[in-house]
Amino acid sequence: MFKQSLALLMIGLGSLWSQSLPSGEHALGTKTYDQYEKPEVCQSCHVDIYMQWRQSMMSQAYTHHWDEIEYFDLAVPHGEINPVYKPVSDGCNGCHTPLAFMAGDVTPPKPSEGSRANESVSCEVCHTISGFAGGDAFNFNYVSEPGRTKFGPKPGLSSPHHITKENDFIKQAEYCGTCHNEMNPYGIWVKSTQLEWAEGPYADQKVPCHQCHMPKAHGRSAKMASEGLVAQHLFHGAHDPGKVASVIEIRMHPNVREVEVDETITLQVQLFNAKTGHKFPTGSVEDRIAWLHVKAIDSEGKEYHLSVDPKGFEGESYTIASDDMAYSDMGIPLKLKDFAGVARDGVPVGDRIFRMPYFDENGIMTIMQWNTRSLGVDYRIGPRETKIETYTFIMPDDIAIGKVTFEAKMYYSRLVKPVAEYLNVPDEESEPMLVNTANTWIEIYE
Ligand code: HEC
Ligand code: HEC
Ligand code: HEC
Ligand code: HEC
Ligand code: HEC
Repeated sequence: MFKQSLALLMIGLGSLWSQSLPSGEHALGTKTYDQYEKPEVCQSCHVDIYMQWRQSMMSQAYTHHWDEIEYFDLAVPHGEINPVYKPVSDGCNGCHTPLAFMAGDVTPPKPSEGSRANESVSCEVCHTISGFAGGDAFNFNYVSEPGRTKFGPKPGLSSPHHITKENDFIKQAEYCGTCHNEMNPYGIWVKSTQLEWAEGPYADQKVPCHQCHMPKAHGRSAKMASEGLVAQHLFHGAHDPGKVASVIEIRMHPNVREVEVDETITLQVQLFNAKTGHKFPTGSVEDRIAWLHVKAIDSEGKEYHLSVDPKGFEGESYTIASDDMAYSDMGIPLKLKDFAGVARDGVPVGDRIFRMPYFDENGIMTIMQWNTRSLGVDYRIGPRETKIETYTFIMPDDIAIGKVTFEAKMYYSRLVKPVAEYLNVPDEESEPMLVNTANTWIEIYE
């Protein structure tokens, strides 16, 4: 009896202990770099995994050009102007370069200085995580316990370099959620990938993030380990054209096949999210844009652009491309007086956009997620959801008799082009990626 309650007490104390370890913003400056090993130490045995991680965005989360630009040109100066944003700009590092954050090295040296901040989301960051503190996983509330013990997914392994300990948490979506969900100082969810997943069909069917982003392949997890299936560390996502390709399946059909010159055609386009475990787009939704471009091509090759038929829901104007301006709040950190902003969309006017707009205090769209006061209509495509768009084609007078082909193309870009151009972000970040395409046709006679 006494023994049992003592055991219970110990378990209780154990979980209290990990709850009381610093996490999230409280972890700032509680560790030193020296407590963590460099990725190159792991490389000597985990040869393949190291190579994969090097290619992935995880190893570039601090050094990647757009991250550097947004952090050093917008977030850090904004924190100097407005004290509310100082902890926010320090907090960027809690997810993008956790060792720097925990070592209290904020603002870290720029990437060109080659400091340890450049390790970004390293092996040690992920394999010293023992759990998380709080109810929801968000805002880097993982608990890091550096030392000889590395936490991994498998039981009973031995290594000459470290102790390995199986940890259930590393296999769960909430583990990823500690960095993939984010709430800003105004209580707004500015990133909610794991929360979107939790509401969708893949959580019900117990398909965690890992199954899609760390698929297994044959190999050795370490030089001296035996052959087996090893979780790949490529973390493919929005930077991989193959991952983005065919995320949405497009089906399209006209209401009639054979028409006279003066008739009006209605096209229905169905967009089915076949691939993502969360909404599309997800993550840095303030930057991302997906849009559907539909055109008709007549028998002489003349092209006519079709605008989407409005559905009439609240906030819809943000989901139909226009020439409006936005993002004027960038003028604050850039110290530009009366900055008018840049074009909101940079895609053909009239195209349907799948997005959720983020608004600043003046109700103008912002890409500075920390400065977001409200979110607009969520017109993204959920996991296994189908959205239906209609297009009305009023036959132009000059259309040629014969076959008319309709072509629908969905594109995606990681950063709205006008913002990328204004901030000198390399083109590859805003270059449209083709998600999918579909065709149909009608026959026109006199
Ligand atoms: C001297 C070689 C060596 C070095 C250096 C080394 N490891 Fe290991 N590690 C191993 C071996 C061997 C295993 C067991 C692999 C097996 O049997 O499948 C292992 C297992 C692991 C596991 C457990 C995997 C699982 O499936 O649960 C993790 C996590 C891990 N290592 C992380 C690291 C990290 C992080 C570093 C760098 C700080 C590192 N290792 C450095 C040899 C090494
Ligand atoms: C310690 C924080 C942290 C944890 C834990 C974490 N991530 Fe990330 N992840 C990041 C950051 C930061 C980026 C952004 C990299 C960049 O700057 O582009 C990212 C990017 C990604 C990307 C996008 C790559 C791209 O091409 O855009 C994928 C996919 C991803 N993570 C999946 C996962 C999965 C799956 C897990 C859990 C197994 C996970 N992450 C756990 C911090 C984390
Ligand atoms: C973003 C977090 C993250 C980073 C960065 C990361 N890992 Fe992992 N690692 C994981 C997760 C999650 C798993 C478990 C995957 C699963 O089982 O589905 C894992 C699994 C492993 C395994 C066991 C693989 C297997 O299937 O047997 C080893 C070994 C390992 N990691 C070593 C490393 C090394 C070495 C690095 C750096 C080069 C590294 N990890 C970087 C999250 C990470
Ligand atoms: C059923 C498969 C599946 C599951 C489960 C899944 N994802 Fe994804 N994820 C994808 C695909 C496909 C993409 C590429 C399309 C895109 O960019 O949204 C993607 C993209 C991403 C991106 C880049 C998004 C962007 O637009 O910048 C991140 C980050 C990400 N996933 C993280 C996660 C995390 C974290 C989880 C678990 C909470 C998860 N994913 C679960 C399939 C999946
Ligand atoms: C709670 C964790 C977290 C915090 C805090 C955070 N980020 Fe991120 N950030 C991420 C993750 C995860 C991604 C990847 C999402 C995706 O792929 O869509 C990301 C993506 C980005 C991207 C886009 C990268 C790309 O390659 O497209 C930029 C830029 C960025 N963050 C900058 C910042 C800045 C600046 C701050 C501080 C104001 C910040 N982040 C705070 C987790 C975080």
